[in-house]
Amino acid sequence: MGTVLLIASGKGGVGKSTISSALAIALSRRDASVCIVDADIGLRSQDAILGVADSVVYDLMDVARKGCNIRQALIHLPGEEDVCLMASSQFARAKDLDAKDFTKIVQELRQTFGYVLIDCPAGLERNMRILTQCEPDEAIAVATPDDVSVRDVRRLCMVLRERRVNTPKLIVNRLDPLLISAGEMRSAQEISDELKLPLLGEIPEDVHVYRALLTGRRFMDLECEAANAITRIAARIRGNEVLLPEYGSRRLSWRERRKLRKLTEV
Ligand SMILES: Nc1ncnc2c1ncn2[C@@H]1O[C@H](COP(=O)(O)OP(=O)(O)O)[C@@H](O)[C@H]1O
Ligand SMILES: [Mg+2]
Repeated sequence: MGTVLLIASGKGGVGKSTISSALAIALSRRDASVCIVDADIGLRSQDAILGVADSVVYDLMDVARKGCNIRQALIHLPGEEDVCLMASSQFARAKDLDAKDFTKIVQELRQTFGYVLIDCPAGLERNMRILTQCEPDEAIAVATPDDVSVRDVRRLCMVLRERRVNTPKLIVNRLDPLLISAGEMRSAQEISDELKLPLLGEIPEDVHVYRALLTGRRFMDLECEAANAITRIAARIRGNEVLLPEYGSRRLSWRERRKLRKLTEV
């Protein structure tokens, strides 16, 4: 039986979809089969992020409501044999998804795949009620290092607790080591302490992530720090002990100190 991971945040735009797709690739490169379920009904993104938008014929809602065969709705990722995507519907509404139908789909997927990653939409109430009913093994909360995002993760934790989902692990995304050194941004560890959530990983702001999206590539195929960070997270999920990079805690080079001085002058 595969492991079901819910990737959630509360606030939108913090990197849930980016992390889900990259994590699926990183887990598959560590010998796991992975299915990503894009659960953002009406606002699908995984097909575009993964570069398979033209391959979507059937989607999650076709399986849930029209009884379409799950296999017909799975898109195999070119170049990544062990990663499949179940795309979300572009035109349905979140209220059209029945919790029982969704749970049945996830239970069927976990029979086939080592990991089922559910990329959640933003928002807490109705969506989370449906998504948490599928009895995920673990939830991963994604935050960026700002107050709004951190506060929303706190709310998310309350909703997860009400829904009897285990305490989530935390990924802090879009960290800037220089701003942390300048004392303008909290470190991932500080946020994890504040939220009392175990820190699963920290990912820096990395221009390769958006560049890859703009040019139709996957940043996991590029030599970059965000890809390294995701690889470390996948290793931890697979049960390996990998040290956290602790962005912002390292002694800065002369060049970085100069950049920091300029940055804090403004
Ligand atoms: N570590 C990062 N560095 C740079 N850009 C990022 C990073 N993480 C996410 N982004 C960008 O942020 C935007 C929102 O990410 P997305 O994954 O769609 O968020 P969500 O699914 O939480 O709404 C995207 O344009 C993505 O490329
Ligand atoms: Mg998303």
